[in-house]
Amino acid sequence: MKFLFLLASLFAAAQAQFSIGAPKAGTTLVPGQNVVIQVIEPINTSAEAGEEEVSLVIGIVPCPASGCPAPSANLGEILFIGQYKSQGQIGNTLNTFENFTFVVPSDISGSASIQVQHAILTTLPGDVSQPGVEYASLPVNIGTSGPTGPSGATLNIHPTSNAAKCVGIKGGVYANGTAVDVFDCNNSATQSWQWNGDSLVSVNPVDQSQWCLDAGVETSWADGVLMKIWKCFSNLPQQTWTPVTTSGTIKLPSGNFCLDLTNGVLTNGNVLQIWTCTSGDANQVWTATST
Ligand SMILES: *[C@@H]1O[C@H](CO)[C@@H](O)[C@H](O)[C@H]1NC(C)=O
Ligand SMILES: *[C@@H]1O[C@H](CO)[C@@H](O)[C@H](O)[C@H]1NC(C)=O
Ligand SMILES: *[C@@H]1O[C@H](CO)[C@@H](O)[C@H](O)[C@H]1NC(C)=O
Ligand SMILES: *[C@@H]1O[C@H](CO)[C@@H](O)[C@H](O)[C@H]1NC(C)=O
Repeated sequence: MKFLFLLASLFAAAQAQFSIGAPKAGTTLVPGQNVVIQVIEPINTSAEAGEEEVSLVIGIVPCPASGCPAPSANLGEILFIGQYKSQGQIGNTLNTFENFTFVVPSDISGSASIQVQHAILTTLPGDVSQPGVEYASLPVNIGTSGPTGPSGATLNIHPTSNAAKCVGIKGGVYANGTAVDVFDCNNSATQSWQWNGDSLVSVNPVDQSQWCLDAGVETSWADGVLMKIWKCFSNLPQQTWTPVTTSGTIKLPSGNFCLDLTNGVLTNGNVLQIWTCTSGDANQVWTATST
């Protein structure tokens, strides 16, 4: 019995680990938007063997080309100092979590790292108080806001409600008429766009052919017309878009229609549409980050 119990605790110890559960590694965060940082801790840390929570520190640090600093050396710009307070258990694992919501700082851009330090104190017999410190870190990118980006840059374009979703070409098929959708950002070429004058272009990496975001013939424009790509032509009204930095919209200047996240749905494969430009409608607000 004792042996079995020991095995079980060993297994539990292996499963339970201090870590960062969200965002996903490599996520692009947009300055000014909210990010949820989820800290994961083994269940009952404080209840076990006289262990007490001391502090939790969360920071974010820019990473030079040589790599991110170790969290034990630099926690960066501090987002939180306080105590870890479990908000619940993760599924039926032996882990608890606490979610922290922060506004992404605007004074860091490009490669960055979320850095976490966790301090505990273990009380042992004979007035021994043993300090313990552990660290976790997670790489992210910090991008630019608004639907435009640095000139000539290849961009990911995101619905404002979720920077981890990207505007892409459905199924990755470069062809006249392929639908334009939202999908989890996955670093594929079919989610990479460039502003070329007033057209929004995706370049096929295989043959360098250029494909433009296309709203179909102007006479058919209406709320709900679905978006596609088409071979690029200059001066076609259906391929002429204006990124409006002040509002974050992407607008067809020859009509009062804006690129629109259909029904506000972020599910992979949801095809984008045009809709009458509506001031302040989040479904019509887009952000861009450099790829
Ligand atoms: C966690 O600690 C509490 C209080 O000490 C105890 O009742 C509970 O059974 C523990 N849970 C686990 C999974 O060990
Ligand atoms: C905590 O954050 C995770 C990851 O973003 C999310 O899936 C979960 O729903 C959040 N839980 C709460 C209670 O906010
Ligand atoms: C990447 O996203 C595109 C849509 O933007 C999708 O067609 C493609 O299947 C995705 N690739 C992977 C590997 O998930
Ligand atoms: C796409 O359509 C244009 C006409 O709008 C045509 O000239 C071109 O050949 C088509 N491309 C392909 C690959 O079918």
